[in-house]
Amino acid sequence: MTVKGSASDEGGGRYLARTKPHVPVVRRVATDDLSSEEIRVLRELFATAWGSGSEAFTDEDWGHAVGGMHFILDQGGTILSHASVVERELHTGGHRLPTGYVEAVATEPSHHRQGLGSAVMREVDAYIDQSFQLGALGTDRFAFYERLGWVVWKGPTSVRTDSGLARTTEEDGYVLVRLAPTSPELDLSAPISCDWRSGDVW
Ligand SMILES: CC(C)(COP(=O)(O)OP(=O)(O)OC[C@H]1O[C@@H](n2cnc3c(N)ncnc32)[C@H](O)[C@@H]1OP(=O)(O)O)[C@@H](O)C(=O)NCCC(=O)NCCS
Repeated sequence: MTVKGSASDEGGGRYLARTKPHVPVVRRVATDDLSSEEIRVLRELFATAWGSGSEAFTDEDWGHAVGGMHFILDQGGTILSHASVVERELHTGGHRLPTGYVEAVATEPSHHRQGLGSAVMREVDAYIDQSFQLGALGTDRFAFYERLGWVVWKGPTSVRTDSGLARTTEEDGYVLVRLAPTSPELDLSAPISCDWRSGDVW
């Protein structure tokens, strides 16, 4: 969709159609309010962003990305970047922290390195700061998030299961957190655990 300025009468009866620049806009949409067309376009974006190899974005990944708030960047009527935040509970140092867990961060590959992913993440960060005691995500894209104020959790990671804590050693060093204004004082080298879910627990 092209957004155009309205034709305006400039003095001598000459009409000029002005085209407004396509300013990126980040919208917040709860999962329940996503239209089926938006879901289709988002799934296409994820398929392109992660490709079809071993990193491919699966239905299980989509399951992890829903049930909370989506941050969708549109430019000129086209969805170009996305992240979502779902609520989870992380435990560390005796604290049970309502946590905004970030999923499905992706930008349309033809628009990488234009600041779109960062624009989405700045909105995500503001939402986490308002709504949760901690932000968290799993990644190996450290530089992208660290520039925005996220820090690597240095302590051992685990998942809480019906039969107790299970270590997730393969995730150690790949969990990043964002300290929120309401975060208690945390030791980033302490053990941390997440609630269980199917698939990748972190
Ligand atoms: C990770 C991802 C979302 C980043 O999206 P993006 O829109 O390209 O993000 P940005 O443009 O804001 O920043 C990306 C990089 O471009 C750089 N950059 C931003 N604007 C730039 C510009 N105008 N010119 C050159 N570089 C720029 C940033 O410094 C950043 O560098 P860094 O990653 O080394 O920190 C995108 O690469 C992607 O979709 N990857 C595939 C899916 C994925 O891996 N998701 C993350 C999983 S946790």
